[in-house]
Amino acid sequence: MSTDKAQATENGEAQAVQGDSLTVTDNRTGESYEFEITEGTVSAMDFRQIKVSEDDFGLMTHDPGLSNTSHCRSSVSYIGGEEGTLEYRGIPIDQLCDYSNYLEVAYLLIYGHLPTEDEYNDWVYQVTHHTFVHENIKDFMHGFRHDADPMGMLLASVGALSTFYPEAREIQNEHERHMAAVRLIAKMPTLAAFAYRHSLGLPYVYPDNELSYTGNFLNMLFKMSEAKYEPDPRVERALDVLFILHADHEQNCSAATVRTVGSSLTDPYTAITGGVAALYGPLHGGANIQVVEMLERIGSTENVPDFLEGVKNGNERMMGFGHRVYKNYDPRARIIQDHIEEVLEATGKQNPLLDIARELEKRALDDEYFTDRKLYPNVDFYSGVIYEALNIPTEMFTVMFAIPRTSGWMAQWMEWMNDEELRIVRPRQIYTGARDADYVPINER
Ligand code: CMC
Repeated sequence: MSTDKAQATENGEAQAVQGDSLTVTDNRTGESYEFEITEGTVSAMDFRQIKVSEDDFGLMTHDPGLSNTSHCRSSVSYIGGEEGTLEYRGIPIDQLCDYSNYLEVAYLLIYGHLPTEDEYNDWVYQVTHHTFVHENIKDFMHGFRHDADPMGMLLASVGALSTFYPEAREIQNEHERHMAAVRLIAKMPTLAAFAYRHSLGLPYVYPDNELSYTGNFLNMLFKMSEAKYEPDPRVERALDVLFILHADHEQNCSAATVRTVGSSLTDPYTAITGGVAALYGPLHGGANIQVVEMLERIGSTENVPDFLEGVKNGNERMMGFGHRVYKNYDPRARIIQDHIEEVLEATGKQNPLLDIARELEKRALDDEYFTDRKLYPNVDFYSGVIYEALNIPTEMFTVMFAIPRTSGWMAQWMEWMNDEELRIVRPRQIYTGARDADYVPINER
């Protein structure tokens, strides 16, 4: 996609470019340009040569929200938006949920292949033996107010990790990159659980290396006075599947943020803190909290039709519905549903919100407002309901998303650091403000 392949002639006729191309005629000058089309894209920089005069800056593309702009090449994950599929390194998400586990998937995402048995054992050993955090982090956590939001605490403490591992600034060093991946994946559940225990005024529970990744996380969340916490294998497995489902999702808001922050060549802890910050918002990872609040507000299945009218009139947004890329059922929402009954059985709980969610989905998928706009349930529509069944409190839902997404962020960051097209992210703007304005002294305003 090089600029020199895009040519314009002085008499206004485009000069042929080999292969697929796009001809653009600038009606202001009558001049034509031919741009190369590669992998379904044209280079935005090619448009810069379209000018009305020598001193013209040249044409820019304008794309708020980057809805139609590819900003990198990636082989980490692939969303089939029209058909509603998701693959990690080419492997369908259903297969990974059926046969794999979260730590193996994390390895797959970061290193690009399924580990051999030795690689897998070594990886699990390393992650398991880096779950402890420096004791000073505990002191740091103590500084938060008793009712601090756990996601805010996670955000701050992940950012603080960079000060404990200054060697991670050697971003060209393969070993340091690997150690940052191990540490982040290992410590994220510990930080998350500490944040949760702090909000309840409970003592922190240290990691138990004899438990699985999710079993240990449940231990750090829920252990009380018992000598050893024993997780229910059904709950442990359901949580593992949820972690697999949330591990990566192409160039979403937080992955793009990790790449943006990382493009300034900052250390990986800081880049991933950017991802946690992006995930916090209600249109991204915060949507699962909004879904539960929405379901609680609806209150009963009888109120569903009125609520849907409100959505159609533009008074409400149906949280957990719609997606920038999926124009079909989000496969993650389908897989979560397969596990809800199992979790309810294991925890012996009933969740009345589930009936409301199912009724909402049924009616929405029968309604032209939603079908015309291709609005289907996304991962967050049912994740809140299953977290509730797992006894996870609402304010922890976005934290539950951040833990597994760490492996995806790390995979995206590593790929970007190895990308020969890596350059600092620095977009342009259409300036709409004043020019050449004079400063007015305060007493004359
Ligand atoms: N409820 C009602 N209408 C909607 C919704 C919704 N949830 N989502 C989109 N629409 C309508 C929107 O009003 C617009 O209608 P119109 O053409 O008449 O103006 C049309 O559908 C296109 O929507 P959009 O806002 O242009 O789509 P987008 O790609 O900018 O937004 C989205 C994607 C996920 C932010 C949006 O669908 C949304 O706000 N959903 C609710 C929040 C949510 O569930 N977020 C979690 C996303 S999945 C997890 C993750 O990856 O973070």
